[in-house]
Amino acid sequence: MPAQIAPRADAPASPTPSISHEYMSKSAIVTGAASGIGRRAVERLLLEGWSVIGLDLADAALAERDELAECRARYTSFTCDIGIGADVHDVFQKIAARMPKLDALICSAGVVRFGALENHESEELDLMFSVNVKGPWACIRSALPLLRNGSSPHDPARVVVIGSIGGIRPKVGSGFYSVTKAAVHVLASVFAVELAPSGVTVNVVAPGTIETPMTQGPRSRDDGSYNRSAMSPLGRIGRPDDVADAVLYLLGDGAKYVNGVVLPVDGGSRAAFTKT
Ligand SMILES: NC(=O)c1ccc[n+]([C@@H]2O[C@H](COP(=O)([O-])OP(=O)(O)OC[C@H]3O[C@@H](n4cnc5c(N)ncnc54)[C@H](O)[C@@H]3O)[C@@H](O)[C@H]2O)c1
Repeated sequence: MPAQIAPRADAPASPTPSISHEYMSKSAIVTGAASGIGRRAVERLLLEGWSVIGLDLADAALAERDELAECRARYTSFTCDIGIGADVHDVFQKIAARMPKLDALICSAGVVRFGALENHESEELDLMFSVNVKGPWACIRSALPLLRNGSSPHDPARVVVIGSIGGIRPKVGSGFYSVTKAAVHVLASVFAVELAPSGVTVNVVAPGTIETPMTQGPRSRDDGSYNRSAMSPLGRIGRPDDVADAVLYLLGDGAKYVNGVVLPVDGGSRAAFTKT
């Protein structure tokens, strides 16, 4: 459901040019904005009229596409390593200096390292844990003063964390990644309960396999078995737009009372074991 876009009643008469768009529409921060699911979430939010700040390790500039031409003034990006607490703290300080409130935070940045548990190097576990679990924790915590500003239990600000079906039904071959996704699902559930009284809901979207650079690595280019196993009962692999649809639903008026859920977006893959 499209988000309602209402001008803020307390908008200043002459906001400075660098922040004027923040007062015109709802505002969101999206991590992992340079690629895949995060990038498409940024684009879809902009097309729905939101003001968006993208955070990523990589350059998260908007693509040069005609459909986005009208949206450029409502988009800003910052480089940030969400796995480093000081980086997250600094970037949210910069953001807080530009905007007084935030309507939504979407935590999409994530990393995967494939392999059997016994073969992982300790550094790989540290990386996946710091980006996939500590990253959302640090971003949610840093965003709270902005999210709480102007929100209420009747009209809550929203946090959406991109988890994974792997966090519900762990996958051999990406076992520790699944561990981190199960952990971030629990993290989001606890945040959902802790933050609800102050008017912030926290939900998880748990995608099945989605066609993004994350799934276009060597494992998907072998004999095609990875792509076959990624196929959903609907007969196709998911697209970033499938995830963005669920994110927009959770940010919309129709989801004001939805809190603490893990919403699978997998075409039904987890519903039953399938022969591949
Ligand atoms: N693609 C899938 O099949 C799939 C399935 C389930 C869950 N997910 C989850 O969806 C989210 C997005 O994945 P995607 O498929 O779009 O992957 P992607 O690789 O296309 O995009 C991930 C983005 O996160 C950024 N990122 C990585 N580490 C970062 C860090 N430390 N700080 C800031 N940014 C960082 C990357 O630069 C990249 O732009 C991830 O959390 C992923 O675990 C993906």
